[in-house]
Amino acid sequence: MQIIDRQKVNEQINGLKDKYGNDRSALLPILQDLQDIYGYLPNVVMQEVAHSLGIHPVEVEGVASFYSFFQTKEKQGKYVIRLCRTISCDLAGKANVARQLENELGIKFGETTKDGMFTLKYTNCLGMCDRGPAVLVNDRLFAKVDAEKASQIIADCRRDFLKSDFPKVVPSDVKKSGPILKHGLESGDALKAALKMSRSEIIAIIRESGLKGRGGAGFPTAIKWQLAGAAKGDNKYVICNADEGEPGTFKDRMLLYEHIDTVLDGMTIGAYTIGAKKGFIYLRAEYLYMKKYLEETLEKRRANNLLGDNILGKKGFSFDLQIRMGAGAYICGEETALIESLEGFRGEPRNRPPFPVDTGFQGNPTIINNVETFIDAALIVVKGAEWFNEHGTEKSKGMKIFSISGDCANPGIYELPFGITVAQLLKEVGGENAKAVQIGGASGHCIAQKDFHRTIAYEDIGSGGSIIVFGPDTDMLQVAKNFLEFFVEESCGQCTPCRDGNPKLLEGLEMLEEGRCSVTYLNELKKLGETIQIASKCGLGQSSPNAFLSIVDNFKSEILGRVPEAD
Ligand code: FES
Repeated sequence: MQIIDRQKVNEQINGLKDKYGNDRSALLPILQDLQDIYGYLPNVVMQEVAHSLGIHPVEVEGVASFYSFFQTKEKQGKYVIRLCRTISCDLAGKANVARQLENELGIKFGETTKDGMFTLKYTNCLGMCDRGPAVLVNDRLFAKVDAEKASQIIADCRRDFLKSDFPKVVPSDVKKSGPILKHGLESGDALKAALKMSRSEIIAIIRESGLKGRGGAGFPTAIKWQLAGAAKGDNKYVICNADEGEPGTFKDRMLLYEHIDTVLDGMTIGAYTIGAKKGFIYLRAEYLYMKKYLEETLEKRRANNLLGDNILGKKGFSFDLQIRMGAGAYICGEETALIESLEGFRGEPRNRPPFPVDTGFQGNPTIINNVETFIDAALIVVKGAEWFNEHGTEKSKGMKIFSISGDCANPGIYELPFGITVAQLLKEVGGENAKAVQIGGASGHCIAQKDFHRTIAYEDIGSGGSIIVFGPDTDMLQVAKNFLEFFVEESCGQCTPCRDGNPKLLEGLEMLEEGRCSVTYLNELKKLGETIQIASKCGLGQSSPNAFLSIVDNFKSEILGRVPEAD
């Protein structure tokens, strides 16, 4: 048993408070660093953190138990192997990799080897859906893992490969670039252009461009920025939502790597426009391997006066930001849950109103935008509204970056115009053979061939960019099941319809699988799904039955084929 010296823990906490701050918003980063030191979060460590930050110990335990990347019960292995269980990796052969890992290590998922070397865990989407199955070992990412590669990973860990030069970053697979990805701007170009404009001119040009949030909800960016700019408060914040957790989405990972300066230009322009001095990039825990690179970029920008005081000589304009890591909770992609997490709480969505533009981070006016939205905003400032809305539809302007995975010849990242039909998109990616397409990730809709003429646009089928293609042989019941397992795991548990309803839907699918679900019960499940959509508190719950309902409706004969004859 590990003996823990309280005094030493306190010294460590004091050092971390110097680094992250002395208030509750420092809780997550402090716990993350302590977990790195101890291999988990022992009770005594959580108690000392609670005492030091003036929080009740139960609260600290409540936070630690909420996030899947915190381990409170027992020490994890030196190497924590996380295998993606989400649909694209599932279709790509996750089961074989799981079998190999279990056989080689002699443990089941959720267990740690007796020698303390390995812990095996399932995880949700790792943002490598075009090259699954994906595996994360501590902060190292592996793509296209098969049984042989799984063995190799274990052998490398046994040789302590983490000390070697093993590449931390898997290059992005951009299959089609357009005006956004070929922008040709250098670091600071967009910011320089913005600082020559007034705040109202920036809002006007963004309004004229028709830019809507690229995270999926499609809220007009100009309205968000205008409201936050007009809100009263001296401490305003800009937050980049880099918690890309929607299954099937991996474009933000690429954008953060290859276009980080444009993202930061966009955030700094946002800060200038609303009058913010501070900001955060909330980066999902699964992308920890990017943190160092992002922090180095921030340092370069500080050195070039693109962050800090009197930015680019603009007197009185000061802005700086920090990278804050998520801790493994899909719900934190919801903006109010993200703020709760940044403040050091469980990532549970808030009631709205008030909205973050009025009452955001620590009660201050805050804008939260997706990675891609900040890039678009920066480019619009330099290239103009007309340049942006040359593409797209009346209600969905501009180009969109899509993450395409599943059964198609050329999965990867594509820049395509809003308004493209599903059939055109499938042709582009070599998926003409598709039987179904999931648009918008697990929370989106699954459409069948009869709807392939429809367009991807806010006014028809909206999408934050995740497109998963299902080939002719896909078992749609398994697809629905995979998505429901995801929601059962990721529900924050705050509201009853989502917390208790989704397990009931999943149980119904298991009954279908076993031939024990009657048509009458299936119809009851559909009603339950509709109730969850209406009665859940936040977007996660409201959208959680979408895939189930659309699969039951669009693939009726396949689903009914699982109902017992006598019914
Ligand atoms: Fe596995 Fe996205 S990485 S589904």
